Amino acid sequence: MRDVAIIGIGMTRFGELWEKSLRDLMVEAGLQAIADAGVDHVDSMYVGCMSSGLFVEQEHLASLASDFLGLGPIPATRVESACASGGLAVRSAFIEVASGLSEVVLAMGVEKMTDLAGDACTAALATAADQDYESFHGVTFPGLYAMIARAHMERYGTTSEQLAATAVKNHANGALNPLAQFRNRITVGDVLDSMMVADPLHVLDCSPVSDGAAAAVLCPLERAKKIAKKAPVRIAGVGHATDSLALYRRADLTRLPAVERSAQIALRMAKRKPSDIHLAEVHDCFTIAEVCAIEELGLVPRGQGGDAARSGLTARNGRSPVNTSGGLKSKGHPVGATGVAQIHEVVTQLRGEAGERQVRNARIGLTQNMGGSGGSSVVHVLELI
Ligand code: COA
Repeated sequence: MRDVAIIGIGMTRFGELWEKSLRDLMVEAGLQAIADAGVDHVDSMYVGCMSSGLFVEQEHLASLASDFLGLGPIPATRVESACASGGLAVRSAFIEVASGLSEVVLAMGVEKMTDLAGDACTAALATAADQDYESFHGVTFPGLYAMIARAHMERYGTTSEQLAATAVKNHANGALNPLAQFRNRITVGDVLDSMMVADPLHVLDCSPVSDGAAAAVLCPLERAKKIAKKAPVRIAGVGHATDSLALYRRADLTRLPAVERSAQIALRMAKRKPSDIHLAEVHDCFTIAEVCAIEELGLVPRGQGGDAARSGLTARNGRSPVNTSGGLKSKGHPVGATGVAQIHEVVTQLRGEAGERQVRNARIGLTQNMGGSGGSSVVHVLELI
C-alpha cells in the first residue's frame, strides 16, 4: 500500500444558500480543491451524499459532478453512509490512491437540505434511522439523541449545563470561521432558554439544516512532495466501522461502539495514541454526540465527556481542542458534506492557515464522522509532512 497525502482542499460557505443549486455547490468546492492542489487533471472522483433524491430530487450525482467540473469521462462514484457519506468518500479515494489504481483522486461531499420544509427535512433525515423499528413509530434524530443524552445523564450525572457549554464552545469557534453558518456567540443561558426540541435537547443543542459542499484532492505522498503547492498532509490512519441502526439493539445507550472501533483502527494504522492528537473535529450533530464521541475516541476517560467543554479541556486553547471549525453545531451540517468539511478544517489547521482560530503548533489531527445515531463511523488521522 502506498502512502497517501492531501494536496488540495475546497469548501463552500455553509448555510441557507438559496442562490446556489446542488451542482453549483459541487462545482464550487471541487474547483477550489483542484486549484488549491495545482493539478491539471484528476484520474477519478468520489462524491459523498446522503439523500439528494429526497432533498432536491436529483440522483446520479457522481456523473453530474464530473460533467460540470469538466472532468468527464473519468470514473466517478457516489458513496452513501447517511451523515458519514463524506468521510466515506475520503476513505474510498484513499483506498484508490493507496492501491496504486489511480494517481490523483478528488473526494467530495455535498448536501442541499434547505429547499425542503422542516417536517419533510426531518422525515428525509429519519430514513437513516431504522424505518421499521424507529422512524415509522415517530422517533426523529433529535429524539434518538435525546434518549442517548438521558442515559448519559442517568449513568454519569451529565447535566444540561454541561451539554450547553459544548454548544457555547462550538459557537465561539464558529464565530471565527468565515465559512460557518452561525457566527454568533451564545451563552449557557441562551441554550437553556432556547426552545426544547426533544427533552433534554434544546434547539441550541442541535446542529442546523444546511446547504454546502467540501472537497479534497489526494495523491501518493511521494508525488505530493514534488508537485504540491502547499505543505502536503499525510493520511496516516483510516478507520471505518458499523453498528446497528436502531438504538434498541445496542447493549448500552451511552456507548457508540462504531466510533470506538473506527478510532482504534485509524490510530493503530497511524501508530498514534489519543494523547498524540493535537486537535480533533468530531461529529457533534447534537451536543451529546460530541460528549460521547470524545469518550469513544479516548480523548477523555469514559463518563467524563460531559465536563470537557465546561472545564476548558476541549477549548481552542485547551489541552485537547475539539471542533475548532465550530463543529456541526455552528459551522452547519449539510449531512453528506460534513466528513469532507472536517478534513478541510484539520488540513487548514495543520497548514497554519486557520487565522484567528489557529491552534498553535498543530501537527497531528483527527476527524470523526458518524452516520445516524452511530450506525457507521469513519475516522481519519492526518499528519503534517
Ligand atoms: N441552531 C441554532 N439556530 C437554529 C437551529 C440550530 N440548530 N435551527 C434553527 N435555528 C434558527 C434558524 O436560523 C431560525 O432563525 P431566524 O428566525 O433568526 O432566521 C430559527 O432558529 C427558526 O428556524 P427553523 O428552521 O424554523 O427551525 P426549526 O424549528 O424548523 O428547526 C431543528 C430546528 C432543531 C428542528 C432543526 O435545526 C433540526 O432538525 N436540526 C437537526 C438536524 C439533524 O437531525 N441532522 C442530522 C443529525 S443525525
